[in-house]
Amino acid sequence: MSAATSRAEVPNDLAAFWLPFTPNRAFKKRPRLIARSKDMHYYTPDGRAILDATAGLWCCNAGHNREPIVRAVQEQAAELDFAPTFQFAHPKAFALASRIAALAPGDLDHVFFCNSGSEAGDTALKIALAYHNITGHGSRQRLIGRERAYHGVGFGGITVGGMVNNRKFFGSLLAGADHLPATYSREHQAFTKGEPEWGAHLADELEKIVALHDASTIAAVIVEPMAGSTGVLPAPKGYLKRLREICDKYGLLLIFDEVITGFGRLGHAFAAERYGVIPDMITFAKGVTSGAVPLGGVIVSGRIHDAFMKGPEHAIELFHGYTYSGHPLACAAALATLDVYRDEKLFERAKALEPKWYDALMTLKGLPNVLDIRCVGLTGAIDLAPIAGSPTLRGYHLLEHSFHEQGIMLRLAGDCIELTPPFIISEDQIGEIVEKVGKSIKAVA
Ligand SMILES: Cc1ncc(COP(=O)(O)O)c(C=O)c1O
Repeated sequence: MSAATSRAEVPNDLAAFWLPFTPNRAFKKRPRLIARSKDMHYYTPDGRAILDATAGLWCCNAGHNREPIVRAVQEQAAELDFAPTFQFAHPKAFALASRIAALAPGDLDHVFFCNSGSEAGDTALKIALAYHNITGHGSRQRLIGRERAYHGVGFGGITVGGMVNNRKFFGSLLAGADHLPATYSREHQAFTKGEPEWGAHLADELEKIVALHDASTIAAVIVEPMAGSTGVLPAPKGYLKRLREICDKYGLLLIFDEVITGFGRLGHAFAAERYGVIPDMITFAKGVTSGAVPLGGVIVSGRIHDAFMKGPEHAIELFHGYTYSGHPLACAAALATLDVYRDEKLFERAKALEPKWYDALMTLKGLPNVLDIRCVGLTGAIDLAPIAGSPTLRGYHLLEHSFHEQGIMLRLAGDCIELTPPFIISEDQIGEIVEKVGKSIKAVA
């Protein structure tokens, strides 16, 4: 039976599953169910094709159900289901760490595995704190994030994150954090293709934060090279370099959250490479397995890693880890995914498609309610004017219309449409996305 015609089991009771980051009551009145996937498409239980314009959730960069990845996972499941990585290990975890380290720039050459972007963020923050502690700078405890940032949903991540609804219900969070301003200004940046000219000076706000708290109290600064979940905010030209300089001046560790930008989204293995800026740590997840099996991790510089490798050799160096750190299925999926990226030159493909992607998205300028269009790498976002008095309602209507009527999966952040297709997308499919998004925008005008 083909992917398009097969019927998967349709549930008759939607009550028990509490969906994450979803308006559950609205969803359950008119569910958007996915049963199968292949390459650029999802298929509903009744076999309707849905064009995937979001790579699942910014993760299926190689497209769906790619044969080499499927086979690697199947073979791994038959060979070794689980092996602990506390005090034991299995060969593929080492092989994968070496492959990832080889892709990362500079001396980012050690990899700590976890299972998600959220765990990766919290792991990086903990390594930063522990690093200062063991090197005699235990007073460096403050963590600096940024307004409009998303670093997952752990307490560390929401503390340095800057999305109000992700923070305001959850108490006082970690003590002592501070935030850089967001890098977006519609007035100065609207309808820019790629990195905006305006905004590098916002990195200098870090000087003010240092002046307020003193460098001796600050452990690390964490930023996404492109803020994704808050509506695709590309780094202004020169911004990340400036942040690096200020971090170096004051001995602050710089962490890039590359959970979205890692593994090709901006046309390079890591955005660090695109911007010529080497952070002290990179967090990753999502694209590392093209979404096939959960996996996340932190790539750590030799300097930080080596600082921990002291003391008696039988003693644990870092009291941190997850039961499923370096799970065999995840490692097998990631090794196969990295092969697909390399063999099909998919990062290069993402880069080559950039100009066409930018031009195609900008054709939507002028449609009703379109306030701004942003794009960088193979990502894009379209801000729509909210319905007066009902923020996010236009976005929700658009999400429903696009799925049920247009046969396309989009991601909505409130009233902002986010587009992040798999890198195997054809030029015709770029045109199809723009056409379907345009129709959807008009339908909710
Ligand atoms: C930049 C960034 N960091 C962290 C996360 C959290 O990842 P996860 O949902 O795998 O915990 C995300 C998820 O979208 C993200 O975009």
